Amino acid sequence: MSSRKPLVAGNWKMHLTAAQGVSLVQNIDDFCRELKADVEVVVAPPFTAIHSASTVIDIDRMQLGLAAQNMHWEAEGAFTGEISPTMLTAARVGYVILGHSERREHFFETDEVINKKVKSAISHGISPILCCGESLDIRESGETLAFIEGQIRAGLEDVSAARATGIVIAYEPIWAIGTGKTATPKMAEEVCEHIRNILGDIFGTTIKANTRILYGGSVKAENAALFFAEKNIDGALVGGAALTAGAFNPIIAAAKT
Ligand code: 13P
Repeated sequence: MSSRKPLVAGNWKMHLTAAQGVSLVQNIDDFCRELKADVEVVVAPPFTAIHSASTVIDIDRMQLGLAAQNMHWEAEGAFTGEISPTMLTAARVGYVILGHSERREHFFETDEVINKKVKSAISHGISPILCCGESLDIRESGETLAFIEGQIRAGLEDVSAARATGIVIAYEPIWAIGTGKTATPKMAEEVCEHIRNILGDIFGTTIKANTRILYGGSVKAENAALFFAEKNIDGALVGGAALTAGAFNPIIAAAKT
């Protein structure tokens, strides 16, 4: 882990009601207060649970951050079923997960759409957590680094260095998501180092040095520390193990420097 502040984010995906979410947030916060670690902890509830999570975070003055799992790029309009960046900022949401492989695969999000969302999030003061990751086919054909480079460059097209300050990148190999298989820390580090070099090429040395790059894909208490020990991995984007405090809190503890 580097001087970049570690970030552990829990992507709840399509799990947990508002009431369950409030209870989980309270349990995570209790743990973080005890731990006193210099780790940024973010939860990404489904939209129906964001407002209640936001309220309890605000009222109890919790240090937890809030992320959305998706958003539309327009501020408002006739887009049935969508949620806008202004709705998110009104709910005190500071991050948005964009380009998750599940949205690319099941909801046909393209690099072009993801890029629109990235630019919109930044212009509304929301930090994108831009996800990238290769399929097993791509990994086995030896194309991983080139494929990831394509996703990163396309997702960040037309973003200036001045606006790239808060961006977070999450490397999530598709074959490791929800499968119990993880990349080895070396495999993950190789890709995260490559991502950092691409950031340097696009934005220069400051953004390269300061951008947090997370690993995601079957992260658990038992393996988290191995990833966090790598030079270019600054935390984790956690799915299944983010749904209970018992599984999530030890991952936060593992990120303590
Ligand atoms: P799992 O931790 O369940 O593999 O999910 C990872 C993920 O997709 C987080 O966004």
